[in-house]
Amino acid sequence: MTLRARLRAQTASAHYRLDTRVSGWDLVDRHGLAAFLGMQRRALGALRPYARRDLSQDMMDDLHARAGADLTVLGCDASVSTRDLPVAPMSLALDYVIAGSRLGSALLGKRWLGARDMQVRRASAYFSAPSYIEVWQTFCAQAARLPAEGLAADRIVCDANHIFQFYDHCASQDPEPRLYAHV
Ligand code: HEM
Repeated sequence: MTLRARLRAQTASAHYRLDTRVSGWDLVDRHGLAAFLGMQRRALGALRPYARRDLSQDMMDDLHARAGADLTVLGCDASVSTRDLPVAPMSLALDYVIAGSRLGSALLGKRWLGARDMQVRRASAYFSAPSYIEVWQTFCAQAARLPAEGLAADRIVCDANHIFQFYDHCASQDPEPRLYAHV
């Protein structure tokens, strides 16, 4: 088994839990979209200081800014934040979860594209972000060279699970941010 395969297998249940929660939000609806963007804004705000490679740092800064811009378009408070992580995650774990989430975002973007509400359609920054496929490819190439067993691999898998749980925590906070105005 490669580290890449181990990560997929051993984070599958955390990913499934998060997918299930996120799928409960209707992305063509203002409240559902605001809840999704609020989760992203909180999580990326707390996680981006831990991104150590230029590629993933740019991606996380950009996605964080886009989620904030869309929240503003929706009339929501973009200054949402959350508690810090108790332990700094390994950068490979961070790259895995955040670059991997771009794969799922392609699917979510298709759901958002069905929106008829003009305010939801104008909140287009997050779902028009680049795929950042190069971050994913860099992660895959690196994970393919690393052993799937051992202390470092155990730590990466553990940290990736913590990041999924952290997302879940962010998703559970204020799931429907108050809409301040219909702009
Ligand atoms: C309803 C919400 C979500 C759905 C439907 C979803 C769906 C998917 C799909 C279909 C893939 C596989 C894409 C492919 O192989 O081409 C994927 C991959 C991935 N997603 Fe999600 N996703 C969701 C939310 C998230 C979130 C919020 C995160 C993390 C913040 C995340 C992290 C990942 C990761 C790390 C992968 C790579 C898995 C691997 O191949 O090892 N996903 N997702």
